[in-house]
Amino acid sequence: MSSDAQSRPATSTGRRARKAVIPAAGLGTRFAPATKVVPKELLPVVDVPALEYIVAEAAREGLADVLIITGRGKSAIEDHFDAAPEIEEALERKGDKQRLSRIRRSTELARMHYTRQREARGLGDAVSYAEAFTGDESFAVLLGDDIIDERDVLLARMLDLQAETGGIVVGLIEVEGRFISLYGSIKPAGELVDGVIEIETLIEKPKPEEALSNLAVIGRYVLPPGIFDALRRTELGARGELELTDAMRVLGQDGVPIHGVVFSGRRYDTGDRQDYLRAVVRLACEHPELGADFSGWLAEFVRTLE
Ligand code: G1P
Repeated sequence: MSSDAQSRPATSTGRRARKAVIPAAGLGTRFAPATKVVPKELLPVVDVPALEYIVAEAAREGLADVLIITGRGKSAIEDHFDAAPEIEEALERKGDKQRLSRIRRSTELARMHYTRQREARGLGDAVSYAEAFTGDESFAVLLGDDIIDERDVLLARMLDLQAETGGIVVGLIEVEGRFISLYGSIKPAGELVDGVIEIETLIEKPKPEEALSNLAVIGRYVLPPGIFDALRRTELGARGELELTDAMRVLGQDGVPIHGVVFSGRRYDTGDRQDYLRAVVRLACEHPELGADFSGWLAEFVRTLE
């Protein structure tokens, strides 16, 4: 631990975060065997890997530097955001400009950076690898499993709010009680005003009867630089992992403000097989090239199920 690391400001106000961190080191066991060789973050949602939606979301919000925290067996992620000269040449020869621009898009979205988490020791541990990348700046964390539909606004509001408060801002959804044990659960400190709620504290994956509210943390965070010191002071959670939720609680106990932006738009948890399938079907129906034919077929198919 360097003295520089310890002296980061707990909060930072006035400036919108400019960097994004995407933890993508998880083993993807919920999706095995598809994820035995292919990282779960690269599973296609129609014809684009899930992770490209996330990087595109960051880029749309001006987060021009993106750090992906990878792990062993995940080097295909770096290849995806790199040029693919052979495929590009083949498309050029065919004159397929549209596919060419689609395949190049991943290399043009943002400046990509990578580091590897040495062991799968939890989301908090993964985020701690971002310290040298973000330094004394606030930064966004986007989880590779959560796709937020680009027509619905969440991250922009979170970044604006965080620039005002300088503290922590998390994305929230309302969930039915029995599902809260899949998420971080927050205790509100006040009323919901214009989709924003102040948070008193938060806990990771409570039993339904221990939930602090029906508001659950989703995979979008904007964090101040003080999170790294908080992570160093956080004990391992019930799963034996370093939880980001626990480190946020520690920082909140230091007096750093925590707010949530409640999201009610379209969100797809692509780490869950059911939700992944829903995302593929829905986005296929809305796809500019495939949508018309596919939704026609789907309507017919559904009639055969009745
Ligand atoms: C992580 C976080 C949890 C959060 C969830 C959102 O859990 O630890 O607090 O609610 O992401 O998707 P995971 O799904 O990685 O177990």
